[in-house]
Amino acid sequence: METVLSGIRPTGNLHLGNYFGAVKNFVKMQNENNCFFFIADYHSLTTHPHPENLQQNVKQILVEYLAAGIDPEKVTLYAQSDLPETAELYLILNMNAYLGELERCASFKDKVRQNPQNVNAGLLTYPTLMAADILIHRADKVPVGKDQEQHLEMTRLFANRFNRIYEVEFFKEPQAYNYGDNLVKIPGLDGSTKMGKSTGNALFLNDEPEIIRKKVMKAKTDAGPTSMNQEKPQEIANLFTIMQHVSTKDTYQFFNDSYNNCSIRYGDMKKQLAEDIINFCTPIREKINELSANDEYLNKVRAMGAEKAHESASKTIRAVREIIGFKN
Ligand code: TRP
Repeated sequence: METVLSGIRPTGNLHLGNYFGAVKNFVKMQNENNCFFFIADYHSLTTHPHPENLQQNVKQILVEYLAAGIDPEKVTLYAQSDLPETAELYLILNMNAYLGELERCASFKDKVRQNPQNVNAGLLTYPTLMAADILIHRADKVPVGKDQEQHLEMTRLFANRFNRIYEVEFFKEPQAYNYGDNLVKIPGLDGSTKMGKSTGNALFLNDEPEIIRKKVMKAKTDAGPTSMNQEKPQEIANLFTIMQHVSTKDTYQFFNDSYNNCSIRYGDMKKQLAEDIINFCTPIREKINELSANDEYLNKVRAMGAEKAHESASKTIRAVREIIGFKN
């Protein structure tokens, strides 16, 4: 069985883009693979979160993963900081990570541009920590979007370098992986091609119905099609893409036909879309609310995840220490 691993930074609630782009696939993968899903709370320290916010955000991701259908019995669901073996491997990998290659990393250069007053070593070595996350379980597959591919490439570089330096065949090369090979990208309601937390265009899994209606009714549209089978501008295509995921085939077909014959009324489409998003989100939102109130259960899930993660990681770290010449 192959090992699949994915991490998510605890920076806020999950939105429909997270769900359809990743979490929905995790729910399928958990039946076919040995899955590790973790909350990257060490990584989030690069932006110096307030302890209370950090704790709240970690809980939120845990709750929302569970509410969305991730089964803690089937997978290893854990908080990164509950697995300090990760930090040890990170330290070791850093000894052979070079300043030049870390500085050339696109995500680092972006951060430097965005926040020139906070260029800390954690940001510089973000790829080493991510490599440690992956290599600590010797994962085969990592479901990632385009923006993470360079980090995965660096993980392979560090893994191979370790093998070469110590003349071992210990770490394997993790590969990027998309379930069913198609990367689903949910667009925003503002005409942009990607739904994101930071762009303020997201529909969250725990949004109340009234909020969803407001957000959808405000979505950007154009003046309407003027000729038959006209190509859809981005903002209209976006509404259809979201509809494809949350509505029935018949509903989608109806509005697509009415677009193509120029009879579409965007107000009607948005009303329908909002109700279908609400129908989709409601059971998840209810589960989120229920779980949020059950700290006892959440603590149990977290402890179980930590234990399973530790079982896997301790094997790797023992072997690594042995290879390096440390005593176990
Ligand atoms: N860098 C990832 C992101 O920003 C999160 C992450 C951290 C991760 N460690 C990982 C993803 C290991 C996959 C594997 O989304």
